[in-house]
Amino acid sequence: QEDVFILAIESSCDDTAAAVLQNDKVLSNVVANQLIHNQYGGVVPELASRAHQQNIVPVIDAALKNANISKEQLSAISFTQGPGLMGSLLVGSSFAKSLALALNIPLIAVNHMQAHVLAHFIDEAGYDKPTFPFIALTISGGHTQIIKVNSFFDMDIIGETTDDAVGEAFDKSAKILGLPYPGGPLVDKYAQLGNPKAFTFTKPKVPDLDFSFSGLKTAILYFIQKKTIENPNFIEENLNDICASIQHTIIEILMDKLQLAVAVTGIKQIAIGGGVSANSGIRKTLKEAEQKFGWKTYIPKFEYTTDNAAMIGIVGYQKFLLGKFETSDVVSKARILF
Ligand code: KG4
Ligand code: ZN
Repeated sequence: QEDVFILAIESSCDDTAAAVLQNDKVLSNVVANQLIHNQYGGVVPELASRAHQQNIVPVIDAALKNANISKEQLSAISFTQGPGLMGSLLVGSSFAKSLALALNIPLIAVNHMQAHVLAHFIDEAGYDKPTFPFIALTISGGHTQIIKVNSFFDMDIIGETTDDAVGEAFDKSAKILGLPYPGGPLVDKYAQLGNPKAFTFTKPKVPDLDFSFSGLKTAILYFIQKKTIENPNFIEENLNDICASIQHTIIEILMDKLQLAVAVTGIKQIAIGGGVSANSGIRKTLKEAEQKFGWKTYIPKFEYTTDNAAMIGIVGYQKFLLGKFETSDVVSKARILF
């Protein structure tokens, strides 16, 4: 069988990304982060769309160049159809459509959330691929879902957040502590030096496999306000312990729901994805769960967990094999299910 070369484009939020895959192997994976949003403490959609327009051509050129592949060698182009910010999605989809048309090759639409899950099927030395069925936990600044993955394109969302995503819980807690955006990685860094049992925060009571993180944020805010009235230096004197305790609470919330998901489905393979899976505490706890609960856990290579185009490429490759192509009137969707 002939090799399949896919150019993949991801532009759903604030990162402009392009990748080239040869079958299930990644030849190049380029991401242009938009640092402009940091000063606003969150993603500004209008600025994101404009930055995508500036970044998309150089990012795609770099992906092709790093892969040492010419446009004429491409078998198909895959792009993120949604979910995401409409103005951002449109930049990627318009580019993908015109390039596919110009090269007269198939166009493939990819669901960003499915891609986070299927990133585990990228062929990468030292990383096992899960076997179906498995449970996926996608945790990022925009999503928090527990998904029962039956096969490549048969997935059921069995739990999700009813308000904030896990990444937002990290970032908003960090903001309360006066840390810059995005604060998740900083909370992780300080947490490694602190005592996770120093302070306790009430965990939300949410039925079934769903999550809620907005109550936790409020609890942390009130706690910090009360403590800083007693001692204006409370945060600086206890930063490590506060971060460790916040992170510990978030991990407990995730682990409680994963245990429930395993109990409900009988599936003991757990695969995580999304930017928050970079968290050292989450990684450690999941590894320990292999011994403790007899689970098999899958943590992808870091560059495939945050928003990236390689994951859009692996889904593109699977869809290419199935002949799931689109015409150029395919529409971007800010919200889509599986
Ligand atoms: O997947 P991602 O790059 O973008 C989307 O939100 O889709 O995830 C970014 C999120 C941010 O909320 C960031 O604070 C969080 O992932 N994050 C972390 C860590 N690294 C990134 N949260 C906790 N610990 C980390 N080490
Ligand atoms: Zn994402």
